[in-house]
Amino acid sequence: MEVSPSVRQSVAVVGLGGIGGGAAACLHLAGRHDITACARRPLDRLTFEYEGRDTDVPLRALTDPGQAAPVDWVLLCTKAHETPSAAAWLTRLCRPRTRVVVFQNGIDHEARVAPLAHGAGVVPAIVYYNGERLAADRVRLRRVGEHELTVPDDADGAAFAALMQGTPLRVLCSPDFLTLKWRKLLLNAVANPISALVLQRQIVFRRADVHALSLDVLKEAVSVARADGAQLAEDEAERTMEKLLTIAPEIGTSMYLDRLAGRPFEVEALTGAVVATAERHGIATPLNRMLLTLLRAISEAAEAERDNASARADA
Ligand SMILES: NC(=O)c1ccc[n+]([C@@H]2O[C@H](COP(=O)([O-])OP(=O)(O)OC[C@H]3O[C@@H](n4cnc5c(N)ncnc54)[C@H](OP(=O)(O)O)[C@@H]3O)[C@@H](O)[C@H]2O)c1
Repeated sequence: MEVSPSVRQSVAVVGLGGIGGGAAACLHLAGRHDITACARRPLDRLTFEYEGRDTDVPLRALTDPGQAAPVDWVLLCTKAHETPSAAAWLTRLCRPRTRVVVFQNGIDHEARVAPLAHGAGVVPAIVYYNGERLAADRVRLRRVGEHELTVPDDADGAAFAALMQGTPLRVLCSPDFLTLKWRKLLLNAVANPISALVLQRQIVFRRADVHALSLDVLKEAVSVARADGAQLAEDEAERTMEKLLTIAPEIGTSMYLDRLAGRPFEVEALTGAVVATAERHGIATPLNRMLLTLLRAISEAAEAERDNASARADA
């Protein structure tokens, strides 16, 4: 269904972290749609930091899914492993006419979200902008490429691009979404695991030995991506490492930052997706499998520790 950009629509943003906070602020400031923020903690405004300027953004925010009503669009902006915890929001927000745009890393957006979406359409999105929740009420958005979001080149993708018109978030509708989502996964599936395991920022990839290991991890993942239908270059692994080295050495990946903070992280959506796809295609990926085992051990211990802490707080 083609949607005219002039039609006012209702949009719920679930998860007000770096990515969701930035998207909610951009949509609110464009003023063309009605935005509801769905968060775990009360919030009535955000300071939005963009291009060196601070803008005060008042928000209508809910913390109780029971108060939410069906909307035209849901922007699901939790981390991938937090998706199940957003089920109560999706139950209240989704109807078959709703579309849920999944602003998450990984390649399995539809499989992850469709079972929770009550017949709503699921639109996978690749996120390229950098969003950082600097404080409970402050978010910074940085544009780092030619587009901030990529979606498939179909009717829902076009409707989403129309929805975002007038915001700083430029949407590319791609006829080869599969290749682009794998390209993004390749970068994530090497940068996140290694930086989280060694607890170092991007600077660690400047080491010759870590660079060589990263290339081997990537070559495994590239063969899996190709088997899955991604149209990748002969030297895709080398190109991915070149791209990784353009990231400033002091930047920390999200998995590194999550580990530093003792939080569980996106293991299954990244390395887990590479290994699961490899298994489907009968491809051996010993390095990625080893990374997966180690990351699961760390992330699941963090989750258990968090659960114990909340049980102690409730006692
Ligand atoms: N940040 C980036 O620059 C970037 C770039 C590209 C892709 N991505 C991807 O984008 C996705 C979102 O990342 P992010 O950096 O925005 O993560 P984030 O900063 O951790 O934000 C996630 C937000 O979701 C909230 N949340 C989790 N479960 C919830 C629930 N059940 N109900 C309501 N809110 C819930 C969290 O709330 P609390 O605050 O209460 O924990 C948090 O504010 C991830 O898949 C990430 O890999 C991020």
